[in-house]
Amino acid sequence: MHRHIPSLLLGGITLAACQRPCPAGSTLGPTGLCALPPTADTNAAPLDLTQRELDAALELRAQGIPDSPTNAFADNTDAIALGHWLFYDARLSRSGLFRCASCHDPHQDFQDGKRVSDDGESLVHRNTPTATNGPLYQWLYWGGRCDSLWCQAANPIENDLEMNSTRLEVAHVVHDDPSLADAYEALFEPLPDMSDPRFPATGRPDRKAPNTEDARNWATLSQSDQDSVSGVLANVAKALAAYERQLVRLEAPFDTWVDGLQDGDPDKLAALSPSAVRGFSLFVGDAGCVQCHGGPLFTYEEHINTGLGPRAWLLTEDTGRWDGLVELMYEDFSTFGPWSDDPTVGDALLAEVGTEPTPEQVGTFRTPSLRNVALSAPYMHGGHFETLEEVVQFYIFLDEEPLYGARDDRLQPLDLSPRDASDLVAFLESLTGAPPDESLFDPPESPWAD
Ligand code: HEC
Ligand code: HEC
Repeated sequence: MHRHIPSLLLGGITLAACQRPCPAGSTLGPTGLCALPPTADTNAAPLDLTQRELDAALELRAQGIPDSPTNAFADNTDAIALGHWLFYDARLSRSGLFRCASCHDPHQDFQDGKRVSDDGESLVHRNTPTATNGPLYQWLYWGGRCDSLWCQAANPIENDLEMNSTRLEVAHVVHDDPSLADAYEALFEPLPDMSDPRFPATGRPDRKAPNTEDARNWATLSQSDQDSVSGVLANVAKALAAYERQLVRLEAPFDTWVDGLQDGDPDKLAALSPSAVRGFSLFVGDAGCVQCHGGPLFTYEEHINTGLGPRAWLLTEDTGRWDGLVELMYEDFSTFGPWSDDPTVGDALLAEVGTEPTPEQVGTFRTPSLRNVALSAPYMHGGHFETLEEVVQFYIFLDEEPLYGARDDRLQPLDLSPRDASDLVAFLESLTGAPPDESLFDPPESPWAD
């Protein structure tokens, strides 16, 4: 998925490049590149970047968050307030013990710091990604089984291994709490009368296990009751997504430095250490990282086989995108499904990715963003590595035997020195952005906007 098209982003931006005047304070060097005079009292790196590096820097600079036309409530203030409440509401889980924030801890950049998600009750054999910058992704989850943030938000609520609730329970919870019900109805539509005995206490559709009590309960409802109850979960998910759209962490030292490349401001150029600047040159050059981790989010969101080997704490079978695409086809809350506020978006996406997974997709995982990556150890879909140093060593040696199929051809062992490796890490550490507003880190007092 190449959503971020470099040529579009570059349109209209002045490059501080050799054919143009050099930025203030720098001079044109013998190789045709702009260079800052060396100074003793600043750690600004010399500006001896090639045109290619300058282009790459601009392409990586943070942009805003994209619109979400499939969620009509994405930027609605009341939906943000309701979603904020719901993110911290443990009644969305069957046991009443788990909230979104249990695994996406606001004080750990909205993840849990564990190799794989283990809440003491159940184990998900995957690493919990951060919820920050979720609204910038087209594909959610490691295997891309959701195509929007609101699709994603509906899923953990009904996932046995996460909140293990059902859409009937969610509709009861919202209906039975007067404050929540009022906030919901003011925003969306009247709730179904959940006090009517025709609505069982629990229930959801279950294509894989149609004989569970929950699935049988669900089957007792008429189509129109099923639609209204599913609609409640869709709306809850859209409110959650509206809140998550506030969890953005973009402007990082790297972005300040790119601005410095454009306007020549030495303070901005000092935002990156010389080591991080060398790391940047490797990232977009010899180390080849930018081939996959490009664009303003540091990912083109391709699903790729990086050839990771097995780990004792992981399942031996995790087919990644292959399974993700199958699940997406059955997903009630996809952007092309009945609850989408603009199904044309989803239809266009489907035309692009197709509806049938291919054998090559087995064992591929979404290329994650590298923004804020220093905050989200352990790394990879199964928490394979504890530190960024280990990740970089992996890319240098590629000495793991792929669990599935073949490693992507773009990955080849790298001829990098230990200093190069630490420069790459210094660069990755420069991608930590300013945190979201702290008021978003705690449960609010009510589901209403102030
Ligand atoms: C039991 C722990 C747990 C709970 C509770 C939980 N999540 Fe997650 N979350 C995960 C794990 C694990 C993944 C990755 C799963 C995968 O890729 O298969 C994930 C993935 C995500 C992602 C995708 C991020 C990305 O980069 O693709 C978002 C966003 C998210 N969760 C938000 C939520 C919201 C909203 C809730 C509450 C409705 C929630 N989560 C509840 C563990 C949890
Ligand atoms: C061929 C595409 C490709 C290239 C090239 C590539 N990566 Fe990755 N990267 C991925 C994918 C895919 C993953 C997730 C793999 C998984 O979990 O199965 C990943 C994961 C990562 C992670 C872990 C992020 C997290 O949140 O867990 C880091 C850090 C990383 N890459 C850095 C780099 C660096 C540094 C380079 C250059 C040396 C690089 N990558 C080159 C595709 C690529």
